[in-house]
Amino acid sequence: MIAMSADMRTKPDEHAIAKAFGAGVVALADRFPRNFVWGVATSAYQIEGAAHEDGRGDSIWDEFCRRPGAIRDGSSGEHACDHYHRSGEDIALMADLGVTAYRFSIAWPRVRPLGAGDWNEKGFDFYDRLLDGLLERGIAPYLTLYHWDLPQALQEGGGWLNRSTVDRFAEYAAEVARRFGSRAASIATHNEPWVVAILGHEAGIFAPGLKSWRSAMQVAHHLLLSHGVALQAMRAQGCAAPLGITLNQAPIHPATESPADLAKARLDDGLTIRWYMDALLRGRYPEDVLAFLGEDAPQVAHGDMETIRQPLDFIGINYYTRNLSGTGAPLDPIASGREVTDMGWEVFPGGLSELLLRLKADYDLPPLYITENGAAYPDRLVDGRVADADRIRYLQRHIAAMADALEGGVDVRGYFVWSLIDNFEWADGYTRRFGLVYVDYATQRRTLKDSAHWYRAFCAHARGARVGASRAAAGASRG
Ligand code: FCB
Repeated sequence: MIAMSADMRTKPDEHAIAKAFGAGVVALADRFPRNFVWGVATSAYQIEGAAHEDGRGDSIWDEFCRRPGAIRDGSSGEHACDHYHRSGEDIALMADLGVTAYRFSIAWPRVRPLGAGDWNEKGFDFYDRLLDGLLERGIAPYLTLYHWDLPQALQEGGGWLNRSTVDRFAEYAAEVARRFGSRAASIATHNEPWVVAILGHEAGIFAPGLKSWRSAMQVAHHLLLSHGVALQAMRAQGCAAPLGITLNQAPIHPATESPADLAKARLDDGLTIRWYMDALLRGRYPEDVLAFLGEDAPQVAHGDMETIRQPLDFIGINYYTRNLSGTGAPLDPIASGREVTDMGWEVFPGGLSELLLRLKADYDLPPLYITENGAAYPDRLVDGRVADADRIRYLQRHIAAMADALEGGVDVRGYFVWSLIDNFEWADGYTRRFGLVYVDYATQRRTLKDSAHWYRAFCAHARGARVGASRAAAGASRG
């Protein structure tokens, strides 16, 4: 509060910020270093549309969306937000928001329609223009190679269950690194391999819609292996961009203190956190999880674990909620009276700081980025305005939790709101809105929600924030 009134005397635009959003914006932004990265995130299949233009091949999501009942509203990413034709407008939106970073993914089937064989120059041209457009506006491009849209042709050869897909992925990674490596702020191999393996191959609720536990764990291994091989291939290209991976991570809390629930929570912690972190950072899978898997444990060839454990320039963490784990019926957070978003996900900001501090305590970590955080709410556009106070509160509280972790010595360097715009929310179709920007899908008109105005005010202050005590603490931890 004291810092804010001092700032307000010297920086006139903060009067407007403080008036519109209160002292909170200034005080919160002041907890971060000036070079902290503030961005927004999207992914190719969820926003691009133009699914069959300029030579793009089918992805497993195009195919999955054709299955009756697979998508809640029967929709698909065929048109999505039409970003393929509106990328200029969307870059202008980001510039208007004042973000300095944009995390997006490349659609593998757009640049190599069959996943092998010929490259599609028109596909590369799109990303080439996107990169240049972002850089012209001072927005750093954070690329992801795989945000779930495997070329369908590879799926027909077994997809991620077939070890040869690992080599196709490395070829794709090397080609992207060769073309774009010098313009990317970073390249992440995978987004959330747990989701691909488990929701796609065990639960069957995401593409490719398989239901086999054993396949899912083999896929999990191949995804991690492909990450390692891709890092090697990109580095062999001389790629200068920092290289890493993005994981969905959440603290697992036992539903009750019963021994059975405690054991289940420990196992789920192994399956979701330690399986990935131990493999990437220690070159081994957790013993307790391997014992649990027994015959369903993946086939691991000699040398695979060393390949997976490549030096990492960063790890991206996607955080939305904590997970409650127990042996009883799954808890319904709504019935239990907990605060939830439109996804039914509990709002639990403290889980973010808890998670980051735990990872720091347990692992020798590279720098971290929060590559996704955000919330779906049932937004309504009324008289040109979307009053999404819940989303503002969600973001404020999670950014504050991230500041707690930073002050606790965690080397976290950036934060990306999921998402820039409302988009195709996978199996939920267009029924869930995560954007800072509202999309009217009939007209493709974009409208800034109140949360977008809030984030703009926040970023404006964060860019000019002073060096404070918390910053000194964070700097020390990076030394
Ligand atoms: C994450 C995904 C992202 C989006 C958010 C809500 O798991 O990476 O594409 O769907 O959830």
